[in-house]
Amino acid sequence: MDSLTLFSLYFLLPLILILLFFLRSTHRSRRLPPGSLGLPFVGETLQLISAYKSENPEPFIDERVGRFGPIFTTHVFGEPTVFSADPDTNRFILQNEGRLFESSYPGSISNLLGRHSLLLMRGSLHKRMHSLTLSFANSSILQDHLLLDIDRLVRLNLDCWTGLVFLMDEAKKITFELTVKQLMSFDPCEWTESLRKEYMLVIEGFFTIPFRLFSTTYRRAIEARRKVAEALGRVVRERRRRRSRGGGGGGGGEGGDQRKNDMLGALLDEEGGGAGGFSDEEIVDFMLALLVAGYETTSTIMTLAVKFLTETPLALAQLKEEQDEIRARKGESEALEWNDYKSMPFTQCVVNETLRVANIISGVFRRAMTDIDVKGYRIPKGYKVFASLRAVHMDEDHFKDARSFNPWRWQGGDSSAATNSVNLFTPFGGGPRRCPGAELARAELSVFLHHLVTRFSWVAAEDDKLVFFPTTRTQKRFPIIVQRRNHGAAPPPAPTFPL
Ligand SMILES: *[C@@H]1O[C@H](CO)[C@@H](O)[C@H](O)[C@H]1NC(C)=O
Ligand SMILES: *[C@@H]1O[C@H](CO)[C@@H](O)[C@H](O)[C@H]1NC(C)=O
Repeated sequence: MDSLTLFSLYFLLPLILILLFFLRSTHRSRRLPPGSLGLPFVGETLQLISAYKSENPEPFIDERVGRFGPIFTTHVFGEPTVFSADPDTNRFILQNEGRLFESSYPGSISNLLGRHSLLLMRGSLHKRMHSLTLSFANSSILQDHLLLDIDRLVRLNLDCWTGLVFLMDEAKKITFELTVKQLMSFDPCEWTESLRKEYMLVIEGFFTIPFRLFSTTYRRAIEARRKVAEALGRVVRERRRRRSRGGGGGGGGEGGDQRKNDMLGALLDEEGGGAGGFSDEEIVDFMLALLVAGYETTSTIMTLAVKFLTETPLALAQLKEEQDEIRARKGESEALEWNDYKSMPFTQCVVNETLRVANIISGVFRRAMTDIDVKGYRIPKGYKVFASLRAVHMDEDHFKDARSFNPWRWQGGDSSAATNSVNLFTPFGGGPRRCPGAELARAELSVFLHHLVTRFSWVAAEDDKLVFFPTTRTQKRFPIIVQRRNHGAAPPPAPTFPL
């Protein structure tokens, strides 16, 4: 009896107290991440926009992480939103796509993209389309077919460059032509150029969100979208007709060798797959969305790579040396091949570092499908969530001297960023929605850099600033003055820049 009382006093009581403490603290911790919701209705949207319209948007996140920790609540674009600057949480969000979180974008974007775009698709249809895109743009297809077109179209464009070049505009022209070629095998012509004009109006419409849904820009964009969809619809119908006429007997057929290798061909091929074919509308929406994906992002990353290199002459010199060696092996006008692409180690460091610093897609929006507990907090069902990829890339705890452009951090050894960044470096997102065009984008940028540095030297025509809202871009389209390099003669002296 006595011993039992003693036992309960000395052992059970503290145990109960500890249990009670834990119960209380788990109960207490089941709350929203801390944060400030700002003003009613607009919340902190204006602070976010003004930060991202500047060259240095980091303080918006830094301030809040400093006050509340890496997971905090804010109120942007019309809703309270849980913001994550934490790599584990980001990974958790990306990996649980479709189970705990689903992608969720503002209405104006879905109207312009169409219901069947990859961004907005969910469930099994998304899976099918994603794997189709992946198997169209994977490295073996890239190696066998796509690289050659990339090389040819980049060259063709650079052939016309003289004097003052607005790099952003030229990069957009190149990536649009590349994407159209990859999607439906059209070489640049009047038709593709007029498609591009309409297309640019659609893109403008994306960035009227979220306050000016009924603006002229937006209405013009909807109208342009209708025209682009019509033009693409005609291409789809024409291709269907030709296929049924040609009988589809064993690859190639009339109209040239290229038909089978484009994305449209792959989409139409799906019909035989048993799961049922895609409708014209689905195919058109899908191609339109791939045009957005291929065009905006890749052209911006090209421009920014050149901007960062221009500002980092040592890196530019090293990249030039690497590419000159490849060119010297091949002679003046031979196309780049797969093994050339695979022997540009320093260029790949520049590519990674550009992706890390530029953060074209600064993060992804998701919606919680159920109540979700993460890191001691609870995200209520239906809540908006933003996984900030940028915040992780810019975090000094994860990348030493994170806010400067330093391609050498990716070079060799156990201490390089490449070995230490498995979960930290996610420029293409992750999980089931990881960008299926990642490999393609890297190849396009590498080939572009090869031809640019082996053929031209350049200086920036004027100061140009980087801004991050509504999209990541330079304010003045990055004007440069190019000069053809005189092969055989000594290279022109490197321009000097005030640092
Ligand atoms: C790429 O996709 C094709 C089908 O389009 C497939 O046959 C091939 O095995 C894939 N290659 C890789 C490296 O995934
Ligand atoms: C670039 O980043 C990827 C991860 O996306 C990594 O696998 C690769 O090794 C990196 N390349 C270099 C040269 O560091």
